[in-house]
Amino acid sequence: MKIFLDTANLESIKKFNDMGLLDGITTNPSLMSKEGGNPKNAMEEITKIIQGDVSLEVVSTEYSGMMEEGKRLREYGDNVVVKVPMTPDGLKACKSFSSQGIPVNVTLIFSANQALLAAKSGAKYVSPFIGRLDDIGQDGMNLIKEIKTIFSNYTFKTQILVASVRHPLHVIDAAKIGADVVTLPPGVLEKMLQHPLTKIGLDNFLADWEKLKLKNPDTKI
Ligand code: E4P
Repeated sequence: MKIFLDTANLESIKKFNDMGLLDGITTNPSLMSKEGGNPKNAMEEITKIIQGDVSLEVVSTEYSGMMEEGKRLREYGDNVVVKVPMTPDGLKACKSFSSQGIPVNVTLIFSANQALLAAKSGAKYVSPFIGRLDDIGQDGMNLIKEIKTIFSNYTFKTQILVASVRHPLHVIDAAKIGADVVTLPPGVLEKMLQHPLTKIGLDNFLADWEKLKLKNPDTKI
């Protein structure tokens, strides 16, 4: 399963990329706004740091505007995936970009039917938002299962990009289902690294080593 980071924060992107964990990045207008700086600089930097796919989102709501914005976004790099909303105009833009060989991520997917239609329009990725479904009392992970079953029944190459992930258990469940990608807020990836027994174990190893050194002061590894 590929791991994308769901952020426009350069510090987090560099940190996790240096650990070799990142296959790509997803951004959206809210994430750009949260960083507060000039989005142009962020988009330039992110597309340079990351070799894999970087989703950059259009803000036009009609077809021709989406096409213009998508072409401008692609100037940041060949690794740019144009992110369009799950709307009739978004699907029309998805179809046009895909026919030109430009990869598209269709975002704001909340039903299996929407995922099916986005796949038929040629999307490289569909982004079902599981956390936002959980927030309103619906089962986000069940949507991932449904989409997985539907895509597996046919020959769609479209990848399931699990979005709006809230906690590490979402990641495990998505991996068990066989989702292609999860996009994670930095805080979730940070939590996945940690386990209390790892910290206790390391503290004990180091304390025991210090005891050994008292008896053998010249010892080095
Ligand atoms: C996906 O591409 C979106 O950027 C993101 O996962 C939305 O998550 P949220 O519901 O936490 O805003």
